[in-house]
Amino acid sequence: MKARFDIFRKKPGRRGESRQIFELEVAPGEVVLDAFHRIQEQIDPTFAYRYSCRGAICGSCGVRINGEAALACRTQVAPLAEEGVVVVDPLANMAVVKDLVCDFSPFWDAYNRVRPFLERREERHDEKLTWDDKMTPAQLDQLTRCVDCIKCAACFSDCPKREKDRDFIGPAACVELYRFFFDPRDGGREKRVETARSPGGIFACENHANCVKVCPKDVRPLRAITFMKKSVSSENDS
Ligand code: SF4
Ligand code: SF4
Ligand code: FES
Repeated sequence: MKARFDIFRKKPGRRGESRQIFELEVAPGEVVLDAFHRIQEQIDPTFAYRYSCRGAICGSCGVRINGEAALACRTQVAPLAEEGVVVVDPLANMAVVKDLVCDFSPFWDAYNRVRPFLERREERHDEKLTWDDKMTPAQLDQLTRCVDCIKCAACFSDCPKREKDRDFIGPAACVELYRFFFDPRDGGREKRVETARSPGGIFACENHANCVKVCPKDVRPLRAITFMKKSVSSENDS
């Protein structure tokens, strides 16, 4: 079938941006990323986009398709093309470097604010797990969903709160904060609570749930945020 794409274009270092229409023949099962490859190989070699794994693992091919963030490697073209023109834009809430390529610095800056690593209570030279380090199935269950995050920034792009409040760390960083807050091996709880309560921390979230809708890995950031809000608030009360 024929598919029509309306794609955002921008040259690096230049102010102006434009849109370009591409028409392609697509086979059943082809994804938007396949179309990008075809456009670059056959029509315009200057067309820029990001990808690596082609299998919804690396998190680099996020774009906005018909106004919603999604992975290009996981979004089939045919059902969209049947409805009309497929409109593709770069992720939002980040500056565009070229065409569909964004500068992820604000995403990683927010992410780094939550100290995304395990803080040990004491210096450990032998990192072999001991019985003390083992987690119960219930503790592990609490973390399972959030460790699926592939840092694609789809949630960050479509979070309305982040759009109006550049201090808000955004859904993915909140998930990471939750991930270490509920890890019984972590020794940095005080600092994590401080980050959660700080301006731009989890309490800045306004419960729009866009993050849940667009997340390609079903991480459900709002669920993690809600859990953590309750937990941090009860620590406050006690
Ligand atoms: S629920 Fe919170 S984090 Fe998710 S999109 Fe809304 S404001 Fe952003
Ligand atoms: S929470 Fe989901 S949408 Fe957000 S970065 Fe992780 S995988 Fe992507
Ligand atoms: S190419 Fe890796 S997630 Fe799409």
